[in-house]
Amino acid sequence: MGRPIRIAPSLLDADFGCLAEQIGAVERAGADMLHLDIMDGHFVPNISFGPPVVASIRNITRLHLDVHLMIENPDRYIGAFADAGANSISVHQEACRHLHRTLRLIQSKGLKAGAVINPATPVSTLSEVLDVVDFVLLMSVNPGFGGQPFIPRVLHKVMDLDQRRREAGLTFPIEIDGGVSLKNIADIARAGCDWIVAGSSVFHSEDATETVRGMQAIAREATAMRV
Ligand code: DX5
Ligand code: ZN
Repeated sequence: MGRPIRIAPSLLDADFGCLAEQIGAVERAGADMLHLDIMDGHFVPNISFGPPVVASIRNITRLHLDVHLMIENPDRYIGAFADAGANSISVHQEACRHLHRTLRLIQSKGLKAGAVINPATPVSTLSEVLDVVDFVLLMSVNPGFGGQPFIPRVLHKVMDLDQRRREAGLTFPIEIDGGVSLKNIADIARAGCDWIVAGSSVFHSEDATETVRGMQAIAREATAMRV
């Protein structure tokens, strides 16, 4: 038996005109987590949605809501996203002046706290918070948009982080986000990722349910073979 892998469909590329149907499609595939991308037009060059949309999503699903904050000054909005029904919140190391404090703030709301790093940020920048985080999110694209190509070098960072957590006796999940598809998910799972975000490859596919099922099957097989 391999490690349990969770596929987290990202709603950024879903059709917001029929969100309930889109969520239903990935629920039917057995996905138990939804990834919600929050963008402010400052930290990243794009704007998405805020707490009221998260609250509406909360009303139509029981899935774990994984809120990825790509915003400046995240501390200011953590309470609002917690109240909206988030189960986990991740913040960028690059956007946090006091990362340790921000992670503790998320946990003080009863949520799982994640630290995120961009492709150009080394894993070593998180070394002093690895015993605090509930999970780490490694960006495999530069954040801001769905549908960008996967940056393969990030796989080295996954392996580096996997080794660090094992050496430290820690068990936090490693999440990856950006450019994941049916083609590269085996390598990603094998490198040591536990939570795998997929946006356009799910919601721009012909059948989102089948795509998520396919991803789960490939990831499980890849980790079952991992030694
Ligand atoms: C990018 C977002 C991602 C995005 C992933 O800034 O953080 O979650 O939705 O989309 P794909 O899977 O299309 O790269
Ligand atoms: Zn994201």
